Amino acid sequence: MNRIRPITFKKSANNIVIGGCRLSDLADTYGTPLYVLDEATIRHNCQLFTRVLTEHYPNFTIAYASKAGLNIGISNVIASEGIGADVVSGGELFTVLNSHIDRQKIYFHGNNKSITELSLAIDHDIRIVVDNDYELQLIKSIATEKKKTALIMFRVKPGIEAHTHDYIKTGHIDSKFGLEFDQILPLIQTVADSNWGHFIGIHAHIGSQIFDINPYYDLVSILVGFIDQIHTELGLDVDELNCGGGFGIQYTEQDDAPDISSIVLKMATELKLLCDEKKRPHPKLIFEPGRSIIANAGVTLYGVGATKKVPGGQNYLFIDGGMADNPRPMMYQSEYTFDIVSPSTTDQIDYTIAGKFCESGDILAKNIRLPIAKPNEHIVVYGTGAYNYSMASNYNRFCKPAMVLVHNGSSTILIQRETYEDIIRYDQS
Ligand code: LLP
Repeated sequence: MNRIRPITFKKSANNIVIGGCRLSDLADTYGTPLYVLDEATIRHNCQLFTRVLTEHYPNFTIAYASKAGLNIGISNVIASEGIGADVVSGGELFTVLNSHIDRQKIYFHGNNKSITELSLAIDHDIRIVVDNDYELQLIKSIATEKKKTALIMFRVKPGIEAHTHDYIKTGHIDSKFGLEFDQILPLIQTVADSNWGHFIGIHAHIGSQIFDINPYYDLVSILVGFIDQIHTELGLDVDELNCGGGFGIQYTEQDDAPDISSIVLKMATELKLLCDEKKRPHPKLIFEPGRSIIANAGVTLYGVGATKKVPGGQNYLFIDGGMADNPRPMMYQSEYTFDIVSPSTTDQIDYTIAGKFCESGDILAKNIRLPIAKPNEHIVVYGTGAYNYSMASNYNRFCKPAMVLVHNGSSTILIQRETYEDIIRYDQS
């Protein structure tokens, strides 16, 4: 089951409670804008994957796609659920290395990893998902110099067109990520023949916020075909098969998001069946969900400022954040669900919710029916746990908001609110 709001969400006539904490109290204590994350929902979402796989395909790893939202506190919650991490930069890798995440469950991605980043991964025996042959040459020289054996997977282009926003499609042949099967085969051979690399497996990711589940089943059969080809042509087995993430989630009532546990179960069942048919051993199965772990655990609280009626036009409601803490509506035309936390009236109007940044396009949503709002009331946006803080900026020298974790009626800070001093910290006069 997919839902827009955290699993602990409760709404009464004059307040909203998440993780046992009243949102108006959180706004008063920590100020706004404020990212609020519900620990119970993160754990619940992790278990959507781990329960079904533990029962039906116990040789698995769930590597949380940390680009969706990462700090040490989040990593530690995830780690306590037995979850690993997919990282795409030295910064993400450094963060998870400073958390309790099991290093054997970390997968390092990226289409242009630097020598510094690769060295960090090789130093800590992190699995590296190689994107291209230049990267493999860098790994060879770093591992040889360090007298280490790099753990190597290859990112393949499965040639699948998933239906999602163009910016977040990745599996098609034209994609900047990965290589085609025929390009990868000689690279696998190079690693297999080397004393600086150990070939572990293959990876593919078809895109993000995917609602049509059929491409996932196509992916399994295409990848098993490749596993078979690797065996036939190179005589090698594939120990690990990483099927990426991208499972779509519900942001609004109109979204008809897929049931994650059943997709995962069907993929695992299909994988066993197809491997048996080809007489290949069952590889370790890896998934890299990001959004489906964290999005609906998060909400953003904003303070309401001015409202403005354009004569004959829209009713603007201005909030104390906007495109710098949530660029997704501007980048992907993403839609969200909203509430006024403690409305002072039941009379409703249609609002255009606009941020405070110096851009006309800084609009969070249009035609949102809400109780008439007054200055200093609070508005909550659901489903902001994924790709909001992680894509936030300091545009207009905005101080990034704080993030708190709520659980059983208590709240703890995960990231402090930035201050004006933080804003000028690296400026040189
Ligand atoms: N694995 C790989 C290799 C990925 O590139 C991604 C996402 C994931 C896993 C996780 O996908 P998820 O389960 O979170 O959909 N900024 C965009 C999303 C970009 C996703 C990039 N890669 C957004 O705000 O919608």
